[in-house]
Amino acid sequence: MDIRALYLDYFKSKNHLPYSSMPLVPDDASLLFTNAGMVQFKDIFTGKIPIPTPPRATSSQLCIRAGGKHNDLENVGYTARHHTLFEMLGNFSFGDYFKKEAIAYAWEFVTQVLGFDKSVLYVTIHESDDEAYELWCEHIESSRIKRMGDKDNFWQMGDSGPCGPCSEIYIDQGEQYFHSSEDYFGGEGDRFLEIWNLVFMQYEQKDGIRTPLPKPSIDTGMGLERVIALKEGKINNFDTSLFAPLMKCIENLTGQRYYGDDEKEKRIGTKRVEIVDSMENTNHSMSVMELSGDEVVASFRVIADHARSVAFLLAQGVNFDKEGRGYVLRRILRRAVRHGYLLGLKKAFLYEVVGVVCDSMGTHYEYLKERKKAIQEQCKNEEERFFETIESGMNLFSTELEKIIESQKTTKADCASQDDERATQPLDSHTKYFDGEIAFKLYDTYGFPLDLTQDMLREYGLEVDMEGFEVCMNAQKARSKASWKGSGDSAKEGDFKEILAEFGENEFVGYECMSAECAILALLDSDFKRVESLKAGSEGYVLLDRTPFYPESGGPIGDRGALYLPLDSDSKKRESKVLHSHSSHHRDDCKNNANQVAQVLDTKKYFGLNLSQIKALTPLKMQQKVFAQVDCNRLEIIKHHSATHLLHYALRKVLGTHIAQAGSLVEASRLRFDFSHPKALSDEEIESIEALVNTQIRSANSQICENMSLNAAKQKGAMALFGEKYGENVRVISFGDSIELCGGIHVRNSAEIGSFYITKESGVSSGVRRIEAVCGVAAYAYGKNALEMIKRAKEELKTQDLTQGIQKLKNEFKELKEKANKARSSVKSFGYEMIGGVKLIIASVDIESSEAKELVDRAKNESQNVAIMLITTQNDKATIIAGVKADSQHSSKLKAGAWVKIVSQSLGGNGGGRDDFATAGGKLPSDETQAKAMIKQGLEKARAYAKSALGD
Ligand code: ALA
Repeated sequence: MDIRALYLDYFKSKNHLPYSSMPLVPDDASLLFTNAGMVQFKDIFTGKIPIPTPPRATSSQLCIRAGGKHNDLENVGYTARHHTLFEMLGNFSFGDYFKKEAIAYAWEFVTQVLGFDKSVLYVTIHESDDEAYELWCEHIESSRIKRMGDKDNFWQMGDSGPCGPCSEIYIDQGEQYFHSSEDYFGGEGDRFLEIWNLVFMQYEQKDGIRTPLPKPSIDTGMGLERVIALKEGKINNFDTSLFAPLMKCIENLTGQRYYGDDEKEKRIGTKRVEIVDSMENTNHSMSVMELSGDEVVASFRVIADHARSVAFLLAQGVNFDKEGRGYVLRRILRRAVRHGYLLGLKKAFLYEVVGVVCDSMGTHYEYLKERKKAIQEQCKNEEERFFETIESGMNLFSTELEKIIESQKTTKADCASQDDERATQPLDSHTKYFDGEIAFKLYDTYGFPLDLTQDMLREYGLEVDMEGFEVCMNAQKARSKASWKGSGDSAKEGDFKEILAEFGENEFVGYECMSAECAILALLDSDFKRVESLKAGSEGYVLLDRTPFYPESGGPIGDRGALYLPLDSDSKKRESKVLHSHSSHHRDDCKNNANQVAQVLDTKKYFGLNLSQIKALTPLKMQQKVFAQVDCNRLEIIKHHSATHLLHYALRKVLGTHIAQAGSLVEASRLRFDFSHPKALSDEEIESIEALVNTQIRSANSQICENMSLNAAKQKGAMALFGEKYGENVRVISFGDSIELCGGIHVRNSAEIGSFYITKESGVSSGVRRIEAVCGVAAYAYGKNALEMIKRAKEELKTQDLTQGIQKLKNEFKELKEKANKARSSVKSFGYEMIGGVKLIIASVDIESSEAKELVDRAKNESQNVAIMLITTQNDKATIIAGVKADSQHSSKLKAGAWVKIVSQSLGGNGGGRDDFATAGGKLPSDETQAKAMIKQGLEKARAYAKSALGD
């Protein structure tokens, strides 16, 4: 029984359009991962974009619930039905049918198509929902309908977004396996299993306030894994055919057997991991514990579940990381590895299970098969790194343990010498606790879950200081939350729907030319609110009827340029000769800026609308005709874009077909290309790649642009990027053997790229490498720079030994580069805390004060609400630089001027400045230790002052 197909077919027969599963990483800054089928439709529900035709949809959506509002991570392995990754079948109505039909369809599908007997079915409804009660009574006896409160029967996507009361369908799995007192309908036990949630979308929640949606809608979700289990007669999802190949693989790896819930009695325990090695220098050894049969099974289930998440997340381009989504991925992997470790596995193994996931699920999700090798390598790499830290974690644990035991001994000895009687009393309370910060470090850095640490401590009569642990945990949660909040701009609010309804998506005409005559269809202010006109000097957005400006997409940045008055008839004739070429030609009268009416600062797509961000130079109004001219930087951007395709091709040729693109940036002056590859590239590899790209350039291959079906493109061998939404018809760009799916603009012939230099190869995260390169004008500048350096070296030569001279230059160059890199990356590397919604960064840095000022500026550019103070030192001088930026909601009493003043006073200096930026000096003692202590004091003062001003 292919339940997925049955479901989609059933709803297709009810006029629902099937949609494919959207990426696990949603284009929505407020969500960690796609956590429900409705996520891809949320803008339709809330009315941000128009309702599609037909107004009904169905899908089988991959979901991850391992963080954020819906987090099942800790339950996985210990319940019959929780997963980090699962598939949700759903049907959706956008202001079309409502409760009556939703209930009728669900009932028909469950009883007729799935064939469940009415005698095992039950439903819950929201306590206030009389309408749903009446409707259900048409299908089922009233005694089987239960009213429940908000906790169970009100569904929300996240803290914001569409929501509404819901109704859930339950199946009674029979009493034979379930004996807990909670196994009644409505209880917490597993006997009554929820299989389908029908959400009656009625509200949108924002900032804690619920407002009615424009049109009540339907969103439903049915867990595919649960239904498969029921149909296979299993009471645990992990015991189904879906997981069988994974369990088999884990059996082979561990040499232990997996017994499902219907064979519970056969389960046997095993020896638990030995943790005596790291204790060799102490007199204490840890006893070896037994793992019960149930614990063995739980570990199997954790590994199987987590292998699926790891496979899909890696396949979809999420990489292991220190924060955000990549951090969640890392935690999932570590949890799985720790369970393997408990089962006695001492080296990387999860990648094998991940391989089986790719094979078994790859029949439906082809990209798993295609990327199997790369996924496995990435996984193995990360595992190996973790296996290294397991050992170090054990060391950290025993060192801390030793300290406690030593202090216990001393306390005992002291007591004994003072008062013999007290020596037999329990130990002082402070010696009973294992430092919370270290327990957290074990958890966070070494991946030791808290319960493992607690387990290891128990036999010493010790406990983790939970208060200390929680403090660290909360700080980390704030960090990881902040790191994925605000990572996209799709959450933008504005009048998009109205504009879409009135004009539809506008046409892009800039593939072949860089200018166009067009009309202003709509104007928006900088908050995306529609306006009739824009005043001279103001910024906003413009919707042109046909635009030559290319919107930012994946790699290439958006076009900039200018809007001019429309052409007169003479210039029109002249222009017609050049309009259809990638020429940097600007119309003659445009050289005179008097005709310019607006600057185009950037171009992006918003819900399908191609909008250019502009600064009006003269008043602009709707319907006005303009001449749009793309900035000639576009010519350099497209060279780097085409070079990216050639690079991708060359990487696969030289390194192998496991290479998959993991991100790119294409600008006028450089390109950056991230790709999956397990290790650093050798000099020879870099050289071959560079040479191959240059050969491709010199071959002067014409660009071939074709439109074809996705299948035809795949057959042609076109490279596609997972996570991009491709329609049925795709655009394929080829230069010789390089064939890629791409919607972007390219040079007409590869020779236009000129030449190509790789300027840097580096690692981004485990298993992901980055190449930076230049071509076109940037390559010329790069070459010229190098020549100048040689010239300088020659001059040095006149006075110095050749090798020394070159070495000196090299060192200088390296130093400069390192400094620049350090400065660039350091804002990100500073720790910060969120105080009253403001990001507070305080640090002492070892860079020039001019660089520190740049960093302060950079931090202010990158965040909406930020207060940053940097203290730099040079010899005995300290410079304190502070910047404060806050929007109207967060404006605070923290003023940069007063802030630096307070801190500089504690450093023996003085200074002040504006509210948003200020600097001050200080004098430090010549003794280094004393100077350090003084800086530390300054930092503490800065923090205390900022915290109180920010209202903490
Ligand atoms: N969106 C609903 C859920 O996830 C159907 O349960």
